Amino acid sequence: MKKIVISTGGGDAPGLNAVIYAVVNACYRRGWEVYGSRNGYSGFLDFDDMIPLSPKDVAGIYSIGGTILGSTNKGNPFSYPVKNLADEVQMLDISDKIIKNFHRMKFDCHIAIGGDGSLDIAHRFAEKGMPVIGVPKTIDNDLGKTSRTFGFDTAVATATDAIDKLHSTAKSHNRVMVVEVMGRESGWIALYSGISGGADVILIPEIPFDVDRVCEKILDNELHDKHYAIVVVAEGAMTADGQQFNKGEGELGRQEVVLGGVGDWVAAQIRERTEKDTRSLVLGHLQRGGSPTTFDRLLGLRFGAAAVRMVEEKIFDSMVSLKDSGMTAVPIAEAIAMRKKIDLSTDKVLTARDIGICFGDVEQERVVLP
Ligand code: F6P
Repeated sequence: MKKIVISTGGGDAPGLNAVIYAVVNACYRRGWEVYGSRNGYSGFLDFDDMIPLSPKDVAGIYSIGGTILGSTNKGNPFSYPVKNLADEVQMLDISDKIIKNFHRMKFDCHIAIGGDGSLDIAHRFAEKGMPVIGVPKTIDNDLGKTSRTFGFDTAVATATDAIDKLHSTAKSHNRVMVVEVMGRESGWIALYSGISGGADVILIPEIPFDVDRVCEKILDNELHDKHYAIVVVAEGAMTADGQQFNKGEGELGRQEVVLGGVGDWVAAQIRERTEKDTRSLVLGHLQRGGSPTTFDRLLGLRFGAAAVRMVEEKIFDSMVSLKDSGMTAVPIAEAIAMRKKIDLSTDKVLTARDIGICFGDVEQERVVLP
């Protein structure tokens, strides 16, 4: 008999509920108890937020977006915002309290579902003696040591669908449409949705861009009697001279800066330099919403079940990972050591160049002479 606790931390991603469903059912079949901690680590601080989970509680949730447990990216227990008597907010390390409550509640293992921030926290708890297993979640697909994180496929499907819809309105008005997608410092969502959605230009953080190159591509379209263009920009894309765009000061308790604004900037530059009617839009949190695709649902279920097998085999301080289409375990420390970036020699980048997509870099698309 074991007692397991699950938490979901960081930005939500479609497939979280599928992982919870699999963990609860796989534990139940082994005769184990499962609890869910609400909003990251709240359940360890307030016992009302620690909820028992049975197969009945999770029936049918695998196809629903979001997380039934709630999530937060402002609840790092190693730097936690607490109000003092003077009503001032202080950042405190409350990790010892969480460890104490973990043991007091007699848990055997914590299954932490999260991206690099949440898994970094989980790893620090593992170093303090908490048996932890990580499950890789993020629409950004930027976690190391796993070929996929769940949530990414759904975000790409949503972004591709949006880009598809932009074609007709861009064409009707002979306009340039600039669409900004999420992804933080990696361009996975932009690359996959941009290629699949027939973009003319894709700007990703891995390839600093020169806006003149982007404009050349748009004007080249005109020469080929194409009077509209679709530009997909990753929120973390940066100019060749290192300019990146963000929304200023982070929120209290949040470790990361909020990226955004590059789409508007690129659109303004295109409008000014090409005199083309240009509009921009930000897809934003639409990419995190909705039901998981079949791929993400299945991946979430597989990750959850594999995590429970790892509990059985006591493979702690490790993350379940997708490798060569199978499940494997990797040390959490290795998964969070570096964010996974796009390798510019992969066939996806080559495919984009071969079909004429511009990345705004110096290495332009191949020109075939007549
Ligand atoms: O990491 C997921 C993600 O959606 C990023 O792509 C994006 O930069 C960030 O989270 C947005 O965070 P928030 O939901 O706090 O605005």
